[in-house]
Amino acid sequence: MHAIGVDIGGTKIAIGVVDEAGRILAQVRRDTDPDDVASIDHAIADACTELAKAYEVGAIGVAAAGFVSSDRTSVQFAPNIAWREYPLARKIAELVDIDVPVVVENDANAAGWAEFRFGAGRGSSDMLMLTIGTGLGGAVVVDRSLVRGRWGAAAEVGHMRVVPGGHYCGCGHEGCWEQYASGSALVRDAKAAVVALPHKAGRLLELAGGERKKIKGPHVTTAAQEGDELAVELLAKLGRWIGEGAASVAALLDPELIVIGGGVAGAGDLLLLPARAGFEAQLSALGHRPMARLELAEQGNEAGVVGAADLARH
Ligand code: BGC
Ligand code: NA
Ligand code: ZN
Repeated sequence: MHAIGVDIGGTKIAIGVVDEAGRILAQVRRDTDPDDVASIDHAIADACTELAKAYEVGAIGVAAAGFVSSDRTSVQFAPNIAWREYPLARKIAELVDIDVPVVVENDANAAGWAEFRFGAGRGSSDMLMLTIGTGLGGAVVVDRSLVRGRWGAAAEVGHMRVVPGGHYCGCGHEGCWEQYASGSALVRDAKAAVVALPHKAGRLLELAGGERKKIKGPHVTTAAQEGDELAVELLAKLGRWIGEGAASVAALLDPELIVIGGGVAGAGDLLLLPARAGFEAQLSALGHRPMARLELAEQGNEAGVVGAADLARH
């Protein structure tokens, strides 16, 4: 049976038809307006109705960047989108033309599930997935099952406090890991560097059309891949934060594999190698324990769509 997978991030919505082997047969993208949650429902419903004309689908899985209720119908809270106790499954079910179950899952859980089933985590039993986007998401697989916690909010690793008194977070607290290890952190640092280090920021600024405010994550990646020194440093700093924080998570979970996904993972080794270095630098009992491997996601940015569809089907 085919299912539709929807991935709602802080800036983009991806909607795709996915088969049982985790292959995306068709996909569309829409922008997210994080302040207008009703517009998100409509964008999703329209896309689902369209896709369902060309493909027979039996379920809709929705991956949402927020705290999802344990019955997987609602988003209770989201740091970067205006959902509060929001009955997302019902809203979408009311708007779509097809009569199929709608299941909501946390976006990082969905991505982690896709990597576990079809991607970098195949064959592993204990895995941590980190999705690096607007926020920092986490998925925890222990003994081959996704850990949801008692009320569905497990694996919210982005809100572990890593810097007392640090940057404000959309969750209302300060110093969350997400404020240092996310695409938003990368962009914030890039914008600051343009002011602080203008002699190094020429290429970055050029890629953003000369406007500091328009710098986006992909500009940093592109510049870094060209060898731009500042961009390479910015990605290395991000990678470091990812790896160091992952070492704290490993203290809790002892995973065999840590998968790094989300848009920024497209930077490849420019991100992965510093992440591995940060992980080793902070892992306790280094040399006296088997060490988790850090790898890039195999499903790229599509993992949320694939995982949401798969979870909705089962
Ligand atoms: C949210 C998570 C989400 C992550 C990635 C965080 O800010 O709290 O629920 O998984 O961002 O989108
Ligand atoms: Na999660
Ligand atoms: Zn937070």
